[in-house]
Amino acid sequence: MNKRTFLKTLTALGFSSSSIIGTSEAKSSAELDFNSTDSWDQIRAGYKLKPDYINLENGYYCFLPEETLEKYLEDIRRVNYQGSYYMRTVQWENKEKSAHALAKLVGAKPEEIAITRNTTESLDLIISGFPWKKGDQAIMANQDYGSMLTMFELISRRHGVKQVRIDIPLHPENDQEIVSVYENAITEKTKLLMVPHVVNITGQILPVGKISDMAHRHGVEVMVDGAHAVGHFQFSISDLNCDYYGSSLHKWLSVPLGAGLLFVKEGKADQIKPLLAPYELDKKGIYNLNHTGTHPVATDLAVMHALDFHEKIGGKRKEDRLRFLQKYWSDQLRDLPGIVLNTPKDPSRSCAIANVGIESSSPADLAQRLVKEYQIFTVAIDGAGVKGCRITPNLYTHTTELDQLVHALKILSGNKS
Ligand SMILES: Cc1ncc(COP(=O)(O)O)c(C=O)c1O
Repeated sequence: MNKRTFLKTLTALGFSSSSIIGTSEAKSSAELDFNSTDSWDQIRAGYKLKPDYINLENGYYCFLPEETLEKYLEDIRRVNYQGSYYMRTVQWENKEKSAHALAKLVGAKPEEIAITRNTTESLDLIISGFPWKKGDQAIMANQDYGSMLTMFELISRRHGVKQVRIDIPLHPENDQEIVSVYENAITEKTKLLMVPHVVNITGQILPVGKISDMAHRHGVEVMVDGAHAVGHFQFSISDLNCDYYGSSLHKWLSVPLGAGLLFVKEGKADQIKPLLAPYELDKKGIYNLNHTGTHPVATDLAVMHALDFHEKIGGKRKEDRLRFLQKYWSDQLRDLPGIVLNTPKDPSRSCAIANVGIESSSPADLAQRLVKEYQIFTVAIDGAGVKGCRITPNLYTHTTELDQLVHALKILSGNKS
């Protein structure tokens, strides 16, 4: 029985078209009125918050608002109910729909985007599959994420590739200062440059488009670690002009855990050796890199629900709110004695994430005291020239919670008794 006859038969048996398609029918909650003063309170009310602490560690994982969670749970039930039937009929077209919607969000062509499990998978695929030759060089930063740095170490051992590490200036005067740091590391042997869109330990946003343009002038390809960028602030991958881009959708887009995005510029996918054998050996393009076998398909469906929530708020409005929350607390502390802000002041160089330390305390002690004495949950960062706690509010964060953070840091740094 072919697929169409199979679907017809099932319809005759009483399955509705929506149950065959497998998408959620859950209604979204009432439209938000952003002219009303309490619109952010309404959004906060849409999250189930643990009362034990103030969560300022959304940099790891932006857990789901209840509305997305409910739709996701409904899809898990629906897929479970349909079993292999779902898997044999619409799982692939649904995954493709989600990938196409993501392509629209990030300003890429549909054939340039694949859904992966996370940034680690997306970028390690590129690093490991790149057509390396012995003696080639790759550039990366000491502030880059460990999983990618370790993958570069691995290919350096496997293929004799030389790793060249740079330091990203914590408080750059201008974009050119950062571009020059990368440019100075390029030699005629350089093949690939990895750059973070957002430095995960400080929240600094880098001028990726300018870095890509510079690298391309030298014939070097550019891979961007955008783990923290998609759904956080607005940008278009086509403006970044990079060759490869990876992101984790369970971060700022609030997709359930285990969802990532891989962008490979049109025409570049075929030079990357797949990690796992492709589903169809001779099919070209990004899908050759994306065969992982059976996986939790409800996560693919949840991408659409997370996008609905994101669009309901509006990407620009979300970015503005997140930047407002960060500036709200960091501007009150930046110039106080004994306090060190590890994130640039210029609002265009950061958004929700920032890092603060106090001179009299190690990052680990500071994080401990914040959670024990003030019930504020953060993460300590102590490495790559950065000492402090990463502070990451999210849309549900209330300014009174940030007042508590400011109060705590003033006391702990001796600026208030
Ligand atoms: C900059 C950066 N890259 C990559 C990753 C890895 O993300 P994942 O664990 O979702 O693969 C992270 C995780 O926090 C990160 O901050």
